[in-house]
Amino acid sequence: MEIKKVGVLGCGLMGSGIAQVSAIAGFEVTVLEVEQKFLDKGFAGIERSLAKFAEKGTIKETPQAIRARLNGTTNMRDLADCDIVVEAVIENIDEKKKMYAALDDVVKPDGIFASNTSSISITELMAATKRPHRFIGLHFFNPVPLMKLVEVVRTIATADDVFQTAYEFGKKLGKVPVRTSDKTGFIVNRLLVPYMLDAIRAYEEGVGSIEDIDNAMKLGCGYPMGPFTLLDFVGLETTYYITQVMYDEFKERRFAAPPLLKRLVMAGWYGRKTGKGFYDYSDPANPKPNKL
Ligand code: 3HC
Repeated sequence: MEIKKVGVLGCGLMGSGIAQVSAIAGFEVTVLEVEQKFLDKGFAGIERSLAKFAEKGTIKETPQAIRARLNGTTNMRDLADCDIVVEAVIENIDEKKKMYAALDDVVKPDGIFASNTSSISITELMAATKRPHRFIGLHFFNPVPLMKLVEVVRTIATADDVFQTAYEFGKKLGKVPVRTSDKTGFIVNRLLVPYMLDAIRAYEEGVGSIEDIDNAMKLGCGYPMGPFTLLDFVGLETTYYITQVMYDEFKERRFAAPPLLKRLVMAGWYGRKTGKGFYDYSDPANPKPNKL
């Protein structure tokens, strides 16, 4: 099956990034949101990102030519003829299931459904539709326009040709696809989440300060960001949600949220997006570690 038209559900950070890389790759893209203002915000971010790429000469076409392949809509029916629909809406299982059930009646029967979920079971989502064999996970990484990886997740029901089509689609987006199966966390979060939680535990136990632990992993291991900078970047409420799903699945302490993470989330300190997390971002260019 050849993919020509791409649908994206959600124009937040991940959805707009997925829409952007799809348009750069030459696909016609339709993005669905609940309100026009979310589309406007997402598309403004895409335009800024495309302008940066144009400045650096990393895109072959003009930003305007790429932008012309991106359409926004608040009407699900506009996704009817999509060959693949990638969902990147809020990590709420009931919301996602409702959306998939509605979409199932609208999108052509051979359209592929893909979810960008980082922790919800693809199998559970697929069961909300009448097309389980045409359902996969496509897990992208933030910031999508820069991060080279996409995890392609198969379930016990995924058809071979659907998996192959999704894998090739990942490549066409300029990503390196990796194959994985529907075990909560897939490859990256299975390894990354315990690492980030261990950094919080190390801090709680007085092993080092927030800044020193970050510098240690950045400069000692060559990671682009230390664990606390990364936690604030991913979002503490997102990480907390992932830990709950992973702990529920595996019942292992390494996936359980340390008390400090839970307290930061209860306080509404979600990281960069709220201006406060492990660091204070009052001066965004010069974040200062909070006294925790
Ligand atoms: N579009 C275009 N250009 C962008 C951009 C975007 N969306 N975002 C940043 N850039 C540009 C910047 O403007 C900058 O350009 P310049 O060199 O001309 O100033 C350049 O990219 C580099 O950015 P920065 O100088 O801000 O910072 P870095 O060199 O540190 O790179 C980074 C930024 C790529 C985000 C890097 O820090 C990194 O790789 N961090 C780790 C990110 C990571 O681990 N992501 C995965 C999170 S886990 C996840 O998403 C899964 C989920 O399930 C939890």
